Amino acid sequence: GKITFISYDGEETEVDIVEGQTLMQLATNNGIAGIDGDCGGEAACGTCHIILEAEWFNKAGDQSDDEAQMLDLTPEREATSRLSCQIKATESMDGMTVRLPEFQM
Ligand code: FES
Repeated sequence: GKITFISYDGEETEVDIVEGQTLMQLATNNGIAGIDGDCGGEAACGTCHIILEAEWFNKAGDQSDDEAQMLDLTPEREATSRLSCQIKATESMDGMTVRLPEFQM
C-alpha cells in the first residue's frame, strides 16, 4: 500500500508502506521535505508534525501523554495534528493522505 505526503505548497509524494516503521521513518527514508525527526522518534522535538484528515485521524491510534504535551507546544497545531514518529505504519493505512504544516517547509 501507499501513503501520500502533501507538502504545504501542494506537492504530493507517494511512499510505500513498510509495516512496523513509523510514518516519520517512512518520510525521512523517502526524503520527504518537512519531516526532520530531530529527536529520533521520542515525541520530544515536534519536527515530525503532520496533519491528518479526520477519517484517518481516527484510524491512526492513540496519542500518548508525551505526544499530546509536545503537540501543545507545536506551531500550527490543528485538531487532527499528530507527531508522525508516534504512528506505526500498517497496510490498513493504504490510501492515507498526510499534510505537512507550513512551519516545516
Ligand atoms: Fe521528534 Fe517525532 S521525531 S517528535
